[in-house]
Amino acid sequence: MNHIRWASLCCASFLLISCGAGDDPAPASPPAPRITEIELGKLIFEDVRLSANGNQSCSSCHDASAGFADPDVTKDAPVSEGSIADSFGNRNAPTSAYAGFSPVRGITTDSADNPVYVGGQFLDGRRDTLEEQAKDPFLNMVEMANADKQAVVDKVKTASYVLNFKQIFGEDVFDNTELAYNNIAHAIAAFERSAEMNKFNSKFDCYLQDDTYPLSEDEQAGLLAFDETGKCSICHTITPDADSDKVLLTNFQHFNIGVPANQKNPANIADGTYVDYGLGDVLVPKDVQENGKFKTPTLRNIELTGPYMHNGVFDTLEEVMAFYNIPEKRDPSPEPAPEVDSDNINADVDFLDLTEKQISDIILFMKTLTDGSGVGICF
Ligand code: HEC
Ligand code: HEC
Repeated sequence: MNHIRWASLCCASFLLISCGAGDDPAPASPPAPRITEIELGKLIFEDVRLSANGNQSCSSCHDASAGFADPDVTKDAPVSEGSIADSFGNRNAPTSAYAGFSPVRGITTDSADNPVYVGGQFLDGRRDTLEEQAKDPFLNMVEMANADKQAVVDKVKTASYVLNFKQIFGEDVFDNTELAYNNIAHAIAAFERSAEMNKFNSKFDCYLQDDTYPLSEDEQAGLLAFDETGKCSICHTITPDADSDKVLLTNFQHFNIGVPANQKNPANIADGTYVDYGLGDVLVPKDVQENGKFKTPTLRNIELTGPYMHNGVFDTLEEVMAFYNIPEKRDPSPEPAPEVDSDNINADVDFLDLTEKQISDIILFMKTLTDGSGVGICF
């Protein structure tokens, strides 16, 4: 094997030399192995060369080992560091898995039949599709920090998979920066929609397929408390989604649930007064009634995706449950005060009076949502 690789390497350098000499007929480029657009998308998703300092890829903040959220829990920051050292965004990286099921942002009705924003990509729904979303991180100065689209396209031109890229998107794909850049995003989105990122093979999926694959007694009690006393399933839906027929553990609706500010967020360290207004800030025109609202996240792989909430204020699921479990109305607001303390805080997260046993059972239930936990049971 080594021998063959050496042989082809020598061959390649020989071809280069003879090419430079200019008198031989141009050699046909060796046919690259054909790969699918999904496989190409994965190579791009994992390519650290596509960042300013060659040290960060999409998967740096969305890694399979962390349920496709940020695996870096070593830094004492609830948000991710960018390609440039000590540059931090304001938000905790959500999972990129199951994100493709989010509809384009629009308006629907909530559990009380009131109009509510639904869908979009990012926690505030500011992009419509995975393709549109994927174009942003490359150019975000606190993420992959490339100067412009051309800089990203140039790096793909010299990537090991460039021949595959041309096979899939056409020999002339690099004639036009915009076209090449759009296709980079297209390939990433194909990978993000693939079965590799959307496994649906958790223990709960076995139970959903056939309830003769039972949950343990405590997990079953947790599911019941999640659905009834805890009211969690109002937003973290456990019935099949109308469009995809999949159980997604979110209805993608945007709510202010009264999450407190996070003093450990680097955005806050200067003077502690940073407020993330979420949806309200990205609507045109801005709408204060939508301040503090974020898209309900899926709870699939929740065991792996901490810290939790848009600002990573909670490190553990126990802390999340302590936050939810208040037996009164969040008005006047409990301590610590919500980041956006407004009368738009959703009432479905009030008046929970869960017992310690119900809390630990709900946590056990949430751990049945980890991909792979059904392998050997029904997969
Ligand atoms: C430095 C860390 C970092 C890098 C690198 C990064 N992301 Fe993200 N990603 C985030 C954060 C933080 C958010 C949430 C930002 C927001 O809501 O404003 C996010 C949001 C997303 C979402 C939206 C998920 C949802 O539920 O709405 C997707 C999809 C995604 N990223 C994919 C990617 C892709 C594709 C790349 C590479 C081109 C990438 N990310 C690179 C941190 C990162
Ligand atoms: C009114 C809708 C609603 C209800 C009811 C609700 N949630 Fe949530 N949940 C949300 C929203 C919205 C967020 C994101 C809030 C943010 O980031 O500021 C969230 C975030 C979470 C997170 C963190 C997810 C992450 O990736 O960071 C967990 C865990 C969670 N909810 C569990 C529960 C449990 C358990 C219950 C029931 C006790 C529940 N939720 C009830 C809407 C809801």
